[in-house]
Amino acid sequence: MVSIVKSSTLCGVDGVIVDVETDISSGLPAFDIVGLPDSAVKEAKERVRSAVRNSDFDFPVKRITVNLAPADIRKEGPSFDLPIAVGIMVCSGLLPKNSTGEFMVTGELSLDGNIRAVNGVLPMVYSAYKNGVKKFIVPEQNAGEAALCTGAEIYPVKNIRELWELFNSSGLKKPFCADSEKIFSGTNEKSMLDFADVKGQEGAKRAMEIAAAGYHNILMIGPPGSGKTMLAKRLPTIMPPLTFDESLEITKIYSVAGLLKSSGRLIDTRPFRSPHHTVSSAALTGGGRIPKPGEISLSHKGILFLDELPEFHRGALEILRQPLEDKEVTISRVNSTITYPSDFMLAAAMNPCPCGYLGDGDKCRCTQNEISKYTGKISGPLLDRIDIQVEVSAVKYDDLYETKKSESSQEIRKRVVKAHNIQLERYKNEGIQFNSQLTAPLIEKYCVLGQAEKEILKTAFERLSLSARGYHKILKTARTVADLEGSGDIKVKHIMEVIQYRSLDRKYMM
Ligand SMILES: Nc1ncnc2c1ncn2[C@@H]1O[C@H](COP(=O)(O)OP(=O)(O)O)[C@@H](O)[C@H]1O
Ligand SMILES: [Mg+2]
Repeated sequence: MVSIVKSSTLCGVDGVIVDVETDISSGLPAFDIVGLPDSAVKEAKERVRSAVRNSDFDFPVKRITVNLAPADIRKEGPSFDLPIAVGIMVCSGLLPKNSTGEFMVTGELSLDGNIRAVNGVLPMVYSAYKNGVKKFIVPEQNAGEAALCTGAEIYPVKNIRELWELFNSSGLKKPFCADSEKIFSGTNEKSMLDFADVKGQEGAKRAMEIAAAGYHNILMIGPPGSGKTMLAKRLPTIMPPLTFDESLEITKIYSVAGLLKSSGRLIDTRPFRSPHHTVSSAALTGGGRIPKPGEISLSHKGILFLDELPEFHRGALEILRQPLEDKEVTISRVNSTITYPSDFMLAAAMNPCPCGYLGDGDKCRCTQNEISKYTGKISGPLLDRIDIQVEVSAVKYDDLYETKKSESSQEIRKRVVKAHNIQLERYKNEGIQFNSQLTAPLIEKYCVLGQAEKEILKTAFERLSLSARGYHKILKTARTVADLEGSGDIKVKHIMEVIQYRSLDRKYMM
């Protein structure tokens, strides 16, 4: 007899429905899994057999063949354990015939019959729901996450016994549902950090405000202990809020990565990722034997903070160039390619030289050669993709002991949100949200300059020998500065301010 149970596998951050077909026939006892399974799926045999037996059910001593269809997609990970077990239980009469047809089943089994959580349940449930599946059997620990797909009927199960009871008791029990009101609040979580903690550094704070308002990449250069790391960590507290769809996208990525902590709610704060400088290229982009999103995807719609930028491996930094432009990363594998979204804002911090004190009086002891080698680690193309470069100088004593409270994150955020709303309104038919996402034709449409502004920009272009990309970045950033002021036109003062944020590479990077 043949049974078909629906399950799902991940392709990037989307689920693809997989039919688990089980056939039990008489013949020499055997257990085969076909349909492009990876080694973790092949190991399911041992787990399923032990789990069924240890739940006090008979495991059929017959010829069992399991086919995972469609056969041209690679099936990875242990999430097929449970659907395979269900298929076998239906074929051997333990579960009623035709009872499981409308369910999608996913879960890993342990040898004693308990069901373990698996990664990527949210995208699996979501994609299947869109394709007409209404009922889902998921591991108990994944129930909250699965229920984020409103409308889906979720049946959490702890072990094989409970699964058996689900189908063999009279009538299905009530499905698990999340409180749809509570799934998404759309407001930033309360953070312990606040910009008011950072004394002085008004220039850097202003640059941060511009970066947050237009989603511009930002680089801070300054001596050690001046507050660069402190400033960067506070960046999420002034970012504009996420939409429901963005929250869902982020939550899916975290689900696939197995990092979803709070089940029952979408992630509604922009992510802030700060990988250590020893991070490998693969950890940044993602991939691996069982593919997982990397740091750049975990920062999707949020901030990727690279502290001590020149300490990163050059290879790792160069890898960022393509995702910075394309907002997604494609990883080629033996049998497939996977694409993960990676629309992140890059924030970076560095010292101006190896000893850290270049430009701070005559404290610096580095030779010109050492300085060039240090800053040379950051290539021109990468630097070119950073819209705002800001100098963070050492804090002054007076600033440090100033009793006057600095502006709080909440106040800064109000201005950022206002500028963001102007952008949302302006670009509502263009498919973008922020000034930094303007393409060349859109720049021509929305960054129109007067005569005086054109002349200023021409001088800067020649003096700083800017690239075409650099020129566009100035226009985009100036658009944000104008938006923060509520000005419809880009004016000379806006351009002048933005040019300051490009001249640093001239000063330090010969
Ligand atoms: N502007 C500032 N206001 C208040 N404290 C500061 C400031 N700058 C630095 N500090 C103090 O110095 C510590 C180190 O700052 P940090 O941001 O790590 O410096 P950097 O990253 O520039 O080397 C902070 O934890 C904080 O205690
Ligand atoms: Mg630091």
